[in-house]
Amino acid sequence: MTRSIYSKLVAIFLVLILALMAVVGAFLMRGVRNFYINGFYTQMQEAFSGAVMADDLRAAADEPDAAAHMAEILRANSGQLGISAGERNYFILDGETGECLTGSDPAAGAHLEITRNILTAMGGSEGYASDPGDDYMDVALPIRGESGSYIIYIFDNKGTVTDLNAELFRIIAEALAVGLVIAVLLSLLLAKTMVTPIQSLTKAAEKVAAGKFGESVENDARDEIGVLTRTFNDMAGQLERNIEDLKNAEQLRREFVANVSHELRTPVTSIRSYAETLCDAADSMDAATRQRFLEVIVGESDRMTKIVQDLLTLSKFDAGSIDFDFGMFSFEKSVKDVYNAQLLEAQKRRHNFGLEFTGELPEIRGDRARIEQVLINMLSNAIKYTPDGGRIRMTAGVKDDCVWCTVRDNGIGIPKQDIDHVFERFYRVDKARSRESGGTGLGLSIAYEIVQRHDGKMEIHSQKGKGTAITVTLPVGGPADA
Ligand SMILES: Nc1ncnc2c1ncn2[C@@H]1O[C@H](COP(=O)(O)OP(=O)(O)OP(=O)(O)O)[C@@H](O)[C@H]1O
Ligand SMILES: [Mg+2]
Repeated sequence: MTRSIYSKLVAIFLVLILALMAVVGAFLMRGVRNFYINGFYTQMQEAFSGAVMADDLRAAADEPDAAAHMAEILRANSGQLGISAGERNYFILDGETGECLTGSDPAAGAHLEITRNILTAMGGSEGYASDPGDDYMDVALPIRGESGSYIIYIFDNKGTVTDLNAELFRIIAEALAVGLVIAVLLSLLLAKTMVTPIQSLTKAAEKVAAGKFGESVENDARDEIGVLTRTFNDMAGQLERNIEDLKNAEQLRREFVANVSHELRTPVTSIRSYAETLCDAADSMDAATRQRFLEVIVGESDRMTKIVQDLLTLSKFDAGSIDFDFGMFSFEKSVKDVYNAQLLEAQKRRHNFGLEFTGELPEIRGDRARIEQVLINMLSNAIKYTPDGGRIRMTAGVKDDCVWCTVRDNGIGIPKQDIDHVFERFYRVDKARSRESGGTGLGLSIAYEIVQRHDGKMEIHSQKGKGTAITVTLPVGGPADA
């Protein structure tokens, strides 16, 4: 990974520097050439339009030895014309044929080409034209005298520009070489600052992939990689939490299955052993014992039926497939009915049993049968978990736009650490004792689901050995969404 980002960076830098140098070089060289060409033509124009030299040349053209005279004048002015042996020369040409008569470099004069400007001068006009593409520049001026027509010709082979541009090219190439070295070093540095956090991210991602959470990657940078790192940390945290939740849910499910199996096995075992004894020893058994055995079998069957029904109810709650039968009903009447239904059981256990209403209760909206199921469980719990001869009070009233019902007993109470758990499925504070009194630990979990569905709430206050008060509160208007 390091090498790939690094080589990409190097490539980008190299291309950038090459492009930059090429553009700068092209502009520079073109600028130098234009400057030089413009300089040449300005210099020529200034020289020849100056009155002195122009007049002298015209006067010389009338002399018999005109070409030599004119050459003499040009030689005298060679400073002003920038004449230099290797690069710029002057020539006197024949105005008719363009043939070189004399000049500063006679050897070169012999091979002079007839250029566009010479043709112009032969036609009688001044030739100042220039093509930047040519590898020379020239000026041709016609001069007519008594002894004939002549052309003053200045020819420059652009040697200076070529040299200058060659020098420029060398400088640019040098700069390019230095730039390339810097680029390689910079890419190395940049790649390192970019790659290090990516590498630690990759390591962390590998750990997460292997299921190892908890280690977050450090990066406070405000750049994209910093943001990516923080997002990664968040994601890893989220994943860890989700996996933790899944593990917990899985644990709960296992416990639940174990509980169900256990709860069902107990009555099945006892039914089986009672039935076996009945079969084996039917003859030697008196009628009363047989009757007692049969009653145990029926009782255990009922217990199994209740467990299975409760489980079915809970699984429907879980699946969300339970249908509530919402309607208006008298909460007061429900409380009274439940109280009366439990009266006999309470009397059997010699409890001091009472019912009180504080104020008048309104009709409420809800599923009457299920609300009564909640109340029955609250009251039967109080009866079950209070030693005989205890005191149990059921009170109900209205507060704001809710009705409430509290069942208070002075029974065994619930230890502090268990209070939060009594709404869990199969949770019983004292398993042996609850089972003895017929409890499976599903009653409150079902009650909780029902009350939730009504947008109500349940609260328990309890002290071990002192007693328990459990309150259900329900909105008069029923749940908002039903
Ligand atoms: N009034 C109470 N006093 C003391 N303990 C209570 C009281 N009400 C509930 N509990 C404790 O909470 C546990 C859960 O109650 P819950 O009603 O869910 O189950 P249960 O009564 O044992 O069985 P089920 O209601 O399914 O027949 C009980 O087993 C008991 O330990
Ligand atoms: Mg109960």
